[in-house]
Amino acid sequence: MGKQEKIVSMFNDIAGTYDIANRVLSMGIDKSWRNKACNLAYKFYDKESIDKIVDVACGTGDMIEFWQKIAKENGIVLNNIVGVDPSVGMMGVAKEKLPDVEFIEAGAAQMPIESDSADVISISYGIRNVVQRQEAFDEFARVLKKGGLVVISEFTKNEKTSVLDHVTDFYMNKILPTLGGLISRNKEAYTYLPNSIDEFLTTDNLCKELRQAGLEPIHTQDFSMKISTLIIARKL
Ligand SMILES: C[S@@+](CC[C@H](N)C(=O)[O-])C[C@H]1O[C@@H](n2cnc3c(N)ncnc32)[C@H](O)[C@@H]1O
Repeated sequence: MGKQEKIVSMFNDIAGTYDIANRVLSMGIDKSWRNKACNLAYKFYDKESIDKIVDVACGTGDMIEFWQKIAKENGIVLNNIVGVDPSVGMMGVAKEKLPDVEFIEAGAAQMPIESDSADVISISYGIRNVVQRQEAFDEFARVLKKGGLVVISEFTKNEKTSVLDHVTDFYMNKILPTLGGLISRNKEAYTYLPNSIDEFLTTDNLCKELRQAGLEPIHTQDFSMKISTLIIARKL
């Protein structure tokens, strides 16, 4: 099995406990990060009606629910939202929660979606798992309409400078794998999480890669002691 297949298979294994583990491990804070990402993206896009949002690495569908809820709160008509993920297990959970949403089994680097058709592409806590990252950014640029937005939420790599950074580091490397392992009965999957963050890019380097694909970052913001980072980029 190659690296990408191993990652997808791991998500298939933890799909059934993913939602509960997520809520416990983030203590619900991820809700505020998702809320902020959707609200800001709608503000930057500034349209009353949106044809299509594609949520890549949609997993169990959390972000789709937020896009729908916050569109409603802002009086925005969201005509279509599509979830994309290579993990059948994760999408199985999403389909049960969101029977009216279309889900496509695919990786981020090759999506069977028409060119210039999406207003917004989101990828939340997913880009770290994409092995062909630059290909995925090129694919996002192909699928987005001109002026469309990419909305990335991610745990990017941080230089550890303060005491608080070491506290979050301890949580991510020691507490999270143990708790996640207990809930999912798969400690390996929750050890992968902090390791993949350590091996991941800084926000600046992620922005450089986006620019190489013709996606210009227009907003970056850290949340909750720099645990989560939001990057919004516009297709030029
Ligand atoms: C941590 S989960 C995030 C799920 C969801 N977006 C959320 O916010 O809860 C990461 C997801 O990335 C998916 N994934 C892994 N490799 C991928 C790839 N190459 N392209 C797209 N998604 C991928 C996994 O199957 C998994 O569902």
